[in-house]
Amino acid sequence: MTQDQKKRQAAEAAVDFIRHARIVGVGTGSTANYFIDALAGIRHQIDGVVPSSEATAARLRGHGLEILDLNEVGPLDVYVDGADEANRHRQLIKGGGGALTREKIVAAASRQFICIMDESKLVEKLGLFPLPIEVIPMARSLVGRELVKLGGQPEYRTGFVTDNGNWMLDVYHLDMTDVVGLEQAVNQIPGVVTNGLFARRPADILLIGSRGGVQQL
Ligand code: A5P
Repeated sequence: MTQDQKKRQAAEAAVDFIRHARIVGVGTGSTANYFIDALAGIRHQIDGVVPSSEATAARLRGHGLEILDLNEVGPLDVYVDGADEANRHRQLIKGGGGALTREKIVAAASRQFICIMDESKLVEKLGLFPLPIEVIPMARSLVGRELVKLGGQPEYRTGFVTDNGNWMLDVYHLDMTDVVGLEQAVNQIPGVVTNGLFARRPADILLIGSRGGVQQL
């Protein structure tokens, strides 16, 4: 079974968890794309979707799903998205695709967050995947120096501009023993828009595609 098949398996399983939902928040990435394709099959049962990126909005539109503005709707019933890493507390690293800020906003606006992924992303301790951080362009160097003081090794994601017009740093070797504390500390650095740790607001359900079927955490 390939990694893509496992991603698809988790994404399709998520559809069974959202049958109650009227408005669905939708994440970004290859696993989320499988979810969007599956969501198209039940589009007549939902009122609309709130996308976490321009790429996701385009794919949703292509399937004929109604795109809603987050400011025009109340709390969302559910948010479904992938992750780059997850631990058994359902805390995540996200942002490999650079959409972390809108992902964090839509997750925060949702009553339930279902994370879908293949089994290779489940780890004992977060941090092998570098932490993505969205920064205001003029603050890139300042933020980089502050991250070095925190023990990290930041790398500029050359040529990448986020949907919000900002830049990305990917940070290696940060100590992830206290992920809630680290999430807060990084967000305190002036110029950081947000970072890819989803620790204060972890996923509520992890659906993990694996050779033995979909596991739920
Ligand atoms: C997008 O910014 C990310 O948070 C993605 O959700 C994450 O990188 C997972 O992507 P894949 O499903 O493509 O692995």
